[in-house]
Amino acid sequence: MSHPVKVIAIDGPVAAGKTVVGLKLASRLGFQFLDTGVMYRAITWLALHQSIPVIDNVALGRLAQQTTITLVDQAGSQVKMGEHQVGRELREPRVEQNVSQVAQASEVRQALVQQQRKLAQEGKIVMVGRDIGTVVLPGADLKVFLTASPEERARRRWLDLQARGSSSDYQQVLQDIEWRDHLDSTRSNSPLTQARDAVLVTTDGLEEDQVVELLFNLVRERCGRQE
Ligand code: DC
Repeated sequence: MSHPVKVIAIDGPVAAGKTVVGLKLASRLGFQFLDTGVMYRAITWLALHQSIPVIDNVALGRLAQQTTITLVDQAGSQVKMGEHQVGRELREPRVEQNVSQVAQASEVRQALVQQQRKLAQEGKIVMVGRDIGTVVLPGADLKVFLTASPEERARRRWLDLQARGSSSDYQQVLQDIEWRDHLDSTRSNSPLTQARDAVLVTTDGLEEDQVVELLFNLVRERCGRQE
């Protein structure tokens, strides 16, 4: 029996295009959008700002528990935490280097998952991350596992970096991606895995808009009609 799709979970490895595609899909459907990676980055930034060691899971958990993260815009390019508002800081190298460590702390995950579920309560949301279909919203109406080969993801990330004036080396970008894949999929808490009922979408050779179209059609199929 078909039913309206209200909650969409998109998971996948680093640089699979989850954020761009998820955001476009959400705006086409008139849904909210939440990139949960931004929340892990925000807690990492705050921990570094407060000189909390990123290996102190208990202190990190307390911090995450006490911090309400508010997204200033849908894309999550700015977030508010108490008196702090941060944006570009979330992509700083020191945040990049420490976020995997912070994200493996179960104390942090518990606190953030609670906030994520609360945000999804009203429905009509596209949520992206690593554990949305498996842990955060196991009852999501549509689950997508979005991926591409490491080489394709590295190529896209490298082109993106070039366009922003960086002279980074492709081999280095590929190595970083493979390392992040390893960390995300081997950690003991909520490792990156495809939910059993997720649709696998491999985007090698597809343009961004083709992927959005594909996902939009999946939504339509699931609910008969949604426009
Ligand atoms: O998607 P991203 O690169 O912005 O994610 C930043 C980090 O947070 C990355 O190490 C994976 C982690 N993460 C997570 O563990 N669970 C999520 N739901 C989202 C991100």
